[in-house]
Amino acid sequence: MSKKRILITGGCGFIGSRVVRNLLATEHEIFVIDDLSSGNRALIPEMLVDLMVCDIRSVAATEHIREIAPHCVIHLAAQIDVQVSMEQQLLDADINVMGTLNMIEACKGLAEFERFVFASTAAVYGNNLDLPLIEDVMPIPISPYGMSKWIGEQYLELNGTMANFPYCALRFANVYGDKETRGKDVISNFWSQIADGKSPIIYGDGEQTRDFIYVEDIAEALILALDVRKNGIYNISTNEQTSINDVLRVMNELLEMTVMSENRPERDGDLRDSRLSNRKFRDVVGWQPMYTLAKGLAQLELEKRKHETVLVK
Ligand SMILES: NC(=O)c1ccc[n+]([C@@H]2O[C@H](COP(=O)([O-])OP(=O)(O)OC[C@H]3O[C@@H](n4cnc5c(N)ncnc54)[C@H](O)[C@@H]3O)[C@@H](O)[C@H]2O)c1
Repeated sequence: MSKKRILITGGCGFIGSRVVRNLLATEHEIFVIDDLSSGNRALIPEMLVDLMVCDIRSVAATEHIREIAPHCVIHLAAQIDVQVSMEQQLLDADINVMGTLNMIEACKGLAEFERFVFASTAAVYGNNLDLPLIEDVMPIPISPYGMSKWIGEQYLELNGTMANFPYCALRFANVYGDKETRGKDVISNFWSQIADGKSPIIYGDGEQTRDFIYVEDIAEALILALDVRKNGIYNISTNEQTSINDVLRVMNELLEMTVMSENRPERDGDLRDSRLSNRKFRDVVGWQPMYTLAKGLAQLELEKRKHETVLVK
């Protein structure tokens, strides 16, 4: 890909900051829109990135996009917390549906616009037990978050048909890594609970399963998606099913500990099992995940240690 202007919404977040840092190793010009509601500007080197602090729902964001006229957008800014979406459906839909639509509208008509890459989620599938899930099955979201992301996808499909709008939607499995932003995932929670000398909290019996994918694999997939030439929806996953109890077991092995969990009642809106086929994206792009859970956790530990060393210095 020749030199492009690439805009990352939510670029100061967990996944976005990783994408920004990886893109800085290319020749592209990098722009970020983030309202810093959960993101942290210290996660990106601001001297090398054009950061606009604003809400994706705002006119200021639209005007900024028209001004910079990006070739590509990686749209990550979102309300990402399932529990928040259960309690504040209006807020969730406002950010995830109206915010996404505002970004699509801002990009429509840009002369050199090439692709809108959208961060969707396995949550769109809901409690569909036909594992591994493939992109063609009917989504049945069981949380407002899953619903709002699915509607975002549908607006993209509609605009693809109606206005020839170029998009690529990626449905991420459960992403883990050195997460410093708010709204933590199960692995980050375990990590901080263990570090605080507490028992990791497991909701339910711990035999529920997830498809855990390391953040570096996600960042790589998002960057490769910029070059996908056909509109479509793709799962980004490891295609491996791991129970929450097994996650704790692997962490205990890695950290040479014997920590026991504290089990609490299951929460509404949580899925029972999840595994996503990644064949479609593999076939189109040639991508494949590089990190097993054990390798990803080892890398996470390394990054946490590096981070602590920097803080101590
Ligand atoms: N982390 C996961 O496991 C996972 C799984 C599936 C999908 N996703 C999707 O990936 C994307 C990134 O997730 P993440 O884990 O990096 O989350 P994150 O909270 O770390 O990052 C989101 C970023 O968006 C910004 N933001 C939020 N609302 C905004 C708004 N209205 N205007 C401007 N900026 C706003 C936040 O400040 C933050 O920097 C999200 O779209 C999320 O739905 C994440």
